[in-house]
Amino acid sequence: MPTGAEVGLLAARKILRVVHDRPDAVLGLATGSSPLAIYAALAAHVRDGSLDTSRVSGFALDEYVGIPAEHPESYAAVIQREVTGPLHLDPDRVHVPDGRAADLEAACERYEEAIRAAGGVDLQILGIGANGHVGFNEPTSSFASRTRIKTLTERTRADNARFFDSADDVPTHCLTQGLGTISDARELLLVAQGPQKAAAVAAAVEGPLTSVCPASVLQLHRRVTVMVDEASAADLRLTDYYRWTYTHKPSSQQF
Ligand code: F6R
Repeated sequence: MPTGAEVGLLAARKILRVVHDRPDAVLGLATGSSPLAIYAALAAHVRDGSLDTSRVSGFALDEYVGIPAEHPESYAAVIQREVTGPLHLDPDRVHVPDGRAADLEAACERYEEAIRAAGGVDLQILGIGANGHVGFNEPTSSFASRTRIKTLTERTRADNARFFDSADDVPTHCLTQGLGTISDARELLLVAQGPQKAAAVAAAVEGPLTSVCPASVLQLHRRVTVMVDEASAADLRLTDYYRWTYTHKPSSQQF
């Protein structure tokens, strides 16, 4: 796609179809900048009555550890502000790992159990870190990992400093769905925008399968769609092939 805005519109179209086919769909929700255009487009469909989300459930990918619930950059607050509210989701059906739990390991277990109890995730929305992380599964995360505590890399903390008053305010730890948890979703949709993502996108899509690029685990999944703008696609080698297959998609595969 030429621009990030178009990535958002196309991804929203795909999600719209998932929810039309399955009104009680379970969506995996990413935070950060990458999915914002998707959520804005879906919210517009809710407002004009073309999307009914009353039975949709959501599971966030991750949450910072130790950040107060009322902090505007806690992912609980972000999900409420960007997703639950604008998409008119039932708050009881929207889940975020509890980064304030006294027993964080128990909170991770409960999160895995809640996903299982909901019947698993139908479609997982993913962004990608400049270092190739998905969720907060930083480089060398196990492909088999489940929801757990992770230490954020300096690169990730620097990249996310824009959301906080200072780099020192970015939490050092998080709870994140594991790569194994993410891989259990029935379908994955990764979106990326901007030149700072180009190397990670190329490594994830065309690089070797390696935990050094956690997003390369997507190569093992049966149903993955990667939607990228021109800038984040810049390092891909097989671009001509991807364009050709996109314009020649059979109608059943079109978004
Ligand atoms: C967010 C998440 C992260 C982000 C990634 C990209 O829930 O799990 O993997 O998707 O850090 O962040 P942005 O989109 O802000 O560039």
